[in-house]
Amino acid sequence: MNAPADIAKVIASPADATHGYKAFKLGSFNFRRDEYFAHITWNTRDGRPLSHTLDIGNFLRALMRDVAWGFFYGGVNFDHVFGTTNHYQTVDMYAGTFNATMKAAGVDLLENFPTEQIAATFASMLDDWTNETFDPFAAPQETGSPYGRKNGNNTPKITRARELAKRCVGLKDDLALRTDARGTLVNRAFADVPQDQPELHPEAGFENEVHAFNLFAFLSRSQVTWNPSFTSVVKFSFMCPTTEEHILPIIHANDRVEWFFQMCDEIHWDCADKTTGRPLARVIMKAGDMAAMPAYCRHQGYSPKRSMLLVWENGSPNLVYEIQKGDAPEVPVKF
Ligand SMILES: [Fe+2]
Repeated sequence: MNAPADIAKVIASPADATHGYKAFKLGSFNFRRDEYFAHITWNTRDGRPLSHTLDIGNFLRALMRDVAWGFFYGGVNFDHVFGTTNHYQTVDMYAGTFNATMKAAGVDLLENFPTEQIAATFASMLDDWTNETFDPFAAPQETGSPYGRKNGNNTPKITRARELAKRCVGLKDDLALRTDARGTLVNRAFADVPQDQPELHPEAGFENEVHAFNLFAFLSRSQVTWNPSFTSVVKFSFMCPTTEEHILPIIHANDRVEWFFQMCDEIHWDCADKTTGRPLARVIMKAGDMAAMPAYCRHQGYSPKRSMLLVWENGSPNLVYEIQKGDAPEVPVKF
């Protein structure tokens, strides 16, 4: 057992003499980047060396979400090979574990780490590998290139605080509304979204209890994509709206049912079995559509235009274990 001070120790090489990036090691996995790609290498369980390659832009966009969301709910697949599963105090990191072909070939590998340890390595890798020209949270049309040799850092953009309301956006001592004055300007795609706010007439003494705000206006001012924030919290009911453009950078394998409400424009979803990757469904969601993603699926969305998506999560810490024991269902309704 490591001493607590050692858990978050990051194992990194000196910067490469040619392209300038560090290489990282976590458990049996090695990570390096070059001008175009992230390369992950490991030894299979019978000792054979294996490698996997991802486009560096895709890798950094996925890594950004995994770091910012604290490994999120359930599984964060970077692609069909590599990813993480959150156990809420520890995190599995794997290659091939949820890929039926690699699993059958016996070349998969899964290792478990204290959350603090994998978080420290991932955050260091994200910071070293992200150049000052690239914002992994931004839509591809709103940021520069992830490619090339090391060129500075973009630490402020990759350490944005996650926006998590305690009760509701705009209440006293809670997450503030987005405004021009705060630097959260209306996005180019939402120039037609009305910015007025509802009238509130609470009885005296209830000013901090009766509340409403313009959610469309709030979302029109989101500076990032595929990054759910909490706008209202009632016990474990989390309303997590977000703006989406281009591709969800991860294939999310939730450990509970997740509801989607398409608030404008459209998103096309690929849904697959979360254990094998076998395709299950295409879901084309247009403005006003609602869908529920079962707890046995993984899903990745494609948003041709910047769109607004309300994600509803049941944040109960016991739910994942109730589903594992069969006490709670993997689907929202049975017909
Ligand atoms: Fe999801």
